[in-house]
Amino acid sequence: MVEVHKIAVIGSGAMGRQIGMAAAVAGYDAVVQDISADAVEAAEQDMKAWAAGRVSKGRMSQEEVDAALGRLRFTTDQADAVGDADLVIEAATERLDIKRQVFTQIDELAPEHAILATNSSTYGSSSVADATRRPEKVCNMHFFNPALVMKAVEVVRHPETSDDTVDSVIAVIQKMGKHPVVLNAEIPGFIANRLMGAVRTEALNLVEQGIASIEDIDTVAKSALGHPMGPFELMDLVGLDVTYLIRKATFELTGDESEAPHPLITAKYEAGELGRKSGKGWYTYD
Ligand SMILES: NC(=O)c1ccc[n+]([C@@H]2O[C@H](COP(=O)([O-])OP(=O)(O)OC[C@H]3O[C@@H](n4cnc5c(N)ncnc54)[C@H](O)[C@@H]3O)[C@@H](O)[C@H]2O)c1
Repeated sequence: MVEVHKIAVIGSGAMGRQIGMAAAVAGYDAVVQDISADAVEAAEQDMKAWAAGRVSKGRMSQEEVDAALGRLRFTTDQADAVGDADLVIEAATERLDIKRQVFTQIDELAPEHAILATNSSTYGSSSVADATRRPEKVCNMHFFNPALVMKAVEVVRHPETSDDTVDSVIAVIQKMGKHPVVLNAEIPGFIANRLMGAVRTEALNLVEQGIASIEDIDTVAKSALGHPMGPFELMDLVGLDVTYLIRKATFELTGDESEAPHPLITAKYEAGELGRKSGKGWYTYD
């Protein structure tokens, strides 16, 4: 197994910054790298504000957050970030060309023993492993948003991923206080997004057929199934653009018509009704 002491995260966006902070809180030396200096600056400020919030809410002591922040660095220098990393987690923009370029570079720059993982929600790690000379050390580590809160992490192996790699990332996830789940084959949407996708498709079909209102379907999801939010509330929160683009990418990957965006989602996307971010989606927001 690879003994992980230092974790480098590539991409300081919504996911990367929180994965880096979660690693630092768990006691790892962590560094978050981004090509954009503005993104790095925003991420650092955001994580300092998160740490201050933990103290003011009484969830962590000042000493604990100071120690975590002391273990976390932000940089735009990729060589500096991955040069002595034991584990690199790529959380860059969801574009395969970008991810393949990142994997080629980090394979050059990271130590030979280092594991290279991708946080991609769409691409199985086989689509980046062949950009490296160490495919057996490549896998998906799929965190959920917000990564500092959500406990599950899906570990997806591709045909060449070694048992050592899987065991090593499981140990890291457990040390982060999270729950690793292992998928033995690459499958679009992994587990959580497939389950949510099935619920969402059924909810959309019920509305399309005029069987129930969005409000009533959300009520059933919450008060019969115990979901924290209804599928329509959740789509508005995530953004109907994100929902549309993920389905479109999955459809393009698989060619499976049943994976294509639902017509009601396409209509919302084309109307610019994207959910909370645009003030209107399934519901209207002030
Ligand atoms: N947002 C979510 O809910 C969520 C959940 C799970 C997984 N993911 C996955 O996490 C990854 C990142 O998503 P996000 O929401 O944080 O995106 P984001 O757009 O918030 O951040 C992406 C960051 O990557 C940076 N970047 C682009 N090219 C780079 C490069 N070559 N080197 C270094 N940095 C680079 C960008 O500057 C940007 O700051 C994606 O693969 C996505 O599928 C997202």
